Amino acid sequence: MSLPADEPKPPGRVPRAGLHHLAVETADLDNCVAWYTDFFGGTAAWTLDIFSDLTRGRLPGITRLTEVTAAGTRFHVFTRSAAYAPPHPDTLQFQHVCMTAGSASELTEWRDRWQQLFASGNYVFARPEPPTEIVVDDDGVSSFYAYDVNGLEYEFTHIPAEAEGR
Ligand SMILES: [Fe+2]
Repeated sequence: MSLPADEPKPPGRVPRAGLHHLAVETADLDNCVAWYTDFFGGTAAWTLDIFSDLTRGRLPGITRLTEVTAAGTRFHVFTRSAAYAPPHPDTLQFQHVCMTAGSASELTEWRDRWQQLFASGNYVFARPEPPTEIVVDDDGVSSFYAYDVNGLEYEFTHIPAEAEGR
């Protein structure tokens, strides 16, 4: 017996999955890897410059990729040849990535750290804009937003235990 086509499927068991890495495209690999390792306190684990047919098909012009391990995740920072034209600004992409800070005071430390690295002059920022202020909502959840060296938006948040699961 089969279900009518318009009936939703029963939920069943959901397979396990977890976040493995975030892929970050950059025009300047050295600048980007330096900022990610310095800001997130990570290490450059490995670099690739030979890619599979599948990767070259999905990411035309890819030349180098470095994995930075930091902040409980991995960042796959990659760059393409100068001949590559970036997508139209309206192309759908993930809008921002949100990292959780360990505590409200560490949230402030992340924001201070961003500003210290910016002031160092060691990195080139595509969008040299300061982080937002830290905003706190009615549930006590605090967050701020800041751009990486490429202009990609990160949110940093602290969610107090009493606001979890709301
Ligand atoms: Fe968000």
